[in-house]
Amino acid sequence: MRNSGLTYDPKKDEINGIPEEMEFLPASNQKKLEKRSPKERMLLVGLIIGAALLSLMIGLLVWHFHFRPDNRIKKMYNGYLTITNKQFTEKLEDSESEAFKQLAATVEETLQNTYMGMDAVAPYYVRSTVSAFSEGSVIAYYWLECWVPPENAAELDAAIRATSLSISGRSHPGVSKSLRIAELVVDRADPQRVKPPKDKSCSFDLHAVPGKVGTFTSPGFPNSPYPSNAWCQWVIRADPQHILELNFVTFDLENICHNDFVVVYDSLSPIEQREITERCGMYPPTNAFKLISSRNVMLVTLMTDDDENYPGFKAEFRQLPKIKECNEVLEGSGNISSPYYPAYYPPRANCTWILRVAPSKHVKVTFNVFLLQNPDKDNICRDYVEINNKKICGEKPKMVELGNKNEMTVKFHSDGAESFRGFSAMFEPYDPSKPCPKKFACNNGRCVQLDLKCDGWNDCGDNSDEINCECSSDQFHCGTGLCKSMFWVCDGVNDCGDNSDEANCECAVDEMKCMNGKCIPEVQRCNLVDECGDRSDEQGCSEAENTVACTDYTYKCRDGSCIKKKNPECDGTRHCADGSDEQNCDCGTRPYKHSRIVGGMDAEIGEWPWQVSLHFKKLGSTCGASVISNNWLVSAAHCFQDFQGTRYSDPGHWVAYLGLHVQHKLSDRVVKENIKRIIVHEKYNPQMFDNDIALLELAHPVTFTSVIQPICLPDASHDFPVGKSTWVTGWGKTSESGPVATVLQKAEIRIIKRKVCDNLLSSAVTSHMLCAGYLSGGIDACQGDSGGPMSSVEENGKVFLAGIVSWGDGCARKNKPGVYTKVSNYRQWITQHSGV
Ligand code: ARG
Repeated sequence: MRNSGLTYDPKKDEINGIPEEMEFLPASNQKKLEKRSPKERMLLVGLIIGAALLSLMIGLLVWHFHFRPDNRIKKMYNGYLTITNKQFTEKLEDSESEAFKQLAATVEETLQNTYMGMDAVAPYYVRSTVSAFSEGSVIAYYWLECWVPPENAAELDAAIRATSLSISGRSHPGVSKSLRIAELVVDRADPQRVKPPKDKSCSFDLHAVPGKVGTFTSPGFPNSPYPSNAWCQWVIRADPQHILELNFVTFDLENICHNDFVVVYDSLSPIEQREITERCGMYPPTNAFKLISSRNVMLVTLMTDDDENYPGFKAEFRQLPKIKECNEVLEGSGNISSPYYPAYYPPRANCTWILRVAPSKHVKVTFNVFLLQNPDKDNICRDYVEINNKKICGEKPKMVELGNKNEMTVKFHSDGAESFRGFSAMFEPYDPSKPCPKKFACNNGRCVQLDLKCDGWNDCGDNSDEINCECSSDQFHCGTGLCKSMFWVCDGVNDCGDNSDEANCECAVDEMKCMNGKCIPEVQRCNLVDECGDRSDEQGCSEAENTVACTDYTYKCRDGSCIKKKNPECDGTRHCADGSDEQNCDCGTRPYKHSRIVGGMDAEIGEWPWQVSLHFKKLGSTCGASVISNNWLVSAAHCFQDFQGTRYSDPGHWVAYLGLHVQHKLSDRVVKENIKRIIVHEKYNPQMFDNDIALLELAHPVTFTSVIQPICLPDASHDFPVGKSTWVTGWGKTSESGPVATVLQKAEIRIIKRKVCDNLLSSAVTSHMLCAGYLSGGIDACQGDSGGPMSSVEENGKVFLAGIVSWGDGCARKNKPGVYTKVSNYRQWITQHSGV
């Protein structure tokens, strides 16, 4: 760099003894100066120098404090440490007590010494403050404040997090002689999530009362929604040697967790490492969640943003004696489950079960429910069940584990954060030479009915009942060695697994043949969906063209143009130039969050909010229906046919129950409404059940709620492909000769090719009908379900009304699937008569 006249040159200083810039007296004063004596001159020069130095210093200070961009930022950390050589007493709960102040001072001193002894922390360290104590032996929760230039912040974070490890040795230099510290956990306090320690607004201290259930709610609950920008916390304590159970009986927050959320900690420090769960959205009472702490404290925080305020939550809490050991030796047979099941398992639990059966037998464990934290990104199970030398985690369907001795050890471990529902299992002896008496032994340990072997259905779950089969004459021999019913050959579904049942098919005139031999409807060519499975139906299509010539199978936009995309309605992407495919999409959503545990037959509250129960006079629930708008329902025509003098066609005899879950249990969520008008399809054919559809107008419009919502109606072009899984729901008979259900039932079924169905059912299956179910039987709609919805979850999670329960040959019989009205055929008819 070139030296300019403005640059400070230290050499000049050395020569004159005064910095050049300090010679500020103008030359015109020369004469005055000359008149003075050398003494005076010396004094004056001294004064001038003094004044100059002083102003330089002031200037520097002013610059330092006001103008220099002091870019240090405040960083807060929080954490806790456990002290093993002190005993927790109730006095330590009270921050005003002498005991609290004394121990806090000792801990703060220890922390100060520790952090000041660390080169990476000392320059930025400001203070440590103990905020609370709890039992264990004594746990001290603290805040750490630092000021650091932003460029050093990451380094500081790392250094502080590293203290979690370094201090927990016995003899860290900073640790006060009087404290023995066993564990120290500390983390960055996210200013967006963590309430500053001094902020005591919306802060509550609760203590469980032995034998009593305590409650608390979000501010304003239930009379008004929670406030905007709320920053609330509840410190919950239990007596020593107890743990806490927290049950959110009502939970109704905004669905975007980024905006409004609740976090529950297994600690009084709001740190990620001790986060039991973070929640937002709405949970129905049938899916309420119960959380368990590992010690006698819990911290609940609620954070909300500035808009969309919901009712909030109501929580119940109580203390339970701490299960000291969940280690057990069990003999014969019995049940085991994660601690406190069906509540969420507590953090940091370790259990060991030794299961013993008679000497000649081996142990078999069947897990009926298995819901643990998923493995992390390195595929390591943080929470797990250890059995047969395997660590198992995540979510599993029914699972069997076989031992090879008469004794088996099962272990359960949970880490410090993120709890889930846990597991429930049963153990019993089995004879290794005859593992499944009078049943077929699957490779995965399950036992299935003997007649299910080689029936074309994967009953074991691992296909072992379907391999090495001699295919019967009415079965197809798959390339994979499986036998499949001839009905499945060339039905458009890859049943064999290797497509061999779909290769070499004679395609019908309106079908195209894929490269792999499969036949698909011609109209599915170039619809942007790979129906063939080898993309051959999507090759050679003009890429740029979005619009196509209109056919019965293309979606027509409001502007009259037709688009290539199949089932574009409300899929979350705009396909029509005029956006009409994404209009009127306030349908098919479930406000409540539901559990993912399948297999249950009882629906959850609000799981099917379009489901209606139609009661005829005093007969009770007679038919089902679906909400399609605030004043229209759709049902089956056959429900409203006069029969043996009973006037089913008279709207005055019907009552609709909306938002119902259990028959005859009219909670305040349920809306009872009269029917004003019944419109039966003019071409309904009572012999054939053809056009089995009817519209019902409600006497008054209803308000949509978390349990009352309209279902989306599929466009005329909407395709529910063969093999797609859908759900049928209702309060009908639970078996052909069984009683009707009181709790709404649900069943998962699959769409079956109409031609297959037509062959199986003696009555005709017309093009206005959809077939669905299982050829193995066992799962089906039944009497009383008629008129109810067959719901299909489509792209973007919206639920569409694929079908209406119409008829069947008995219920759930083998090779007799159920038949449903194909709703897409009636899209225009519905608009014509109801305006929906
Ligand atoms: N028609 C019956 C009713 O009135 C519904 C029959 C449905 N049957 C079946 N197997 N899917 O409720």
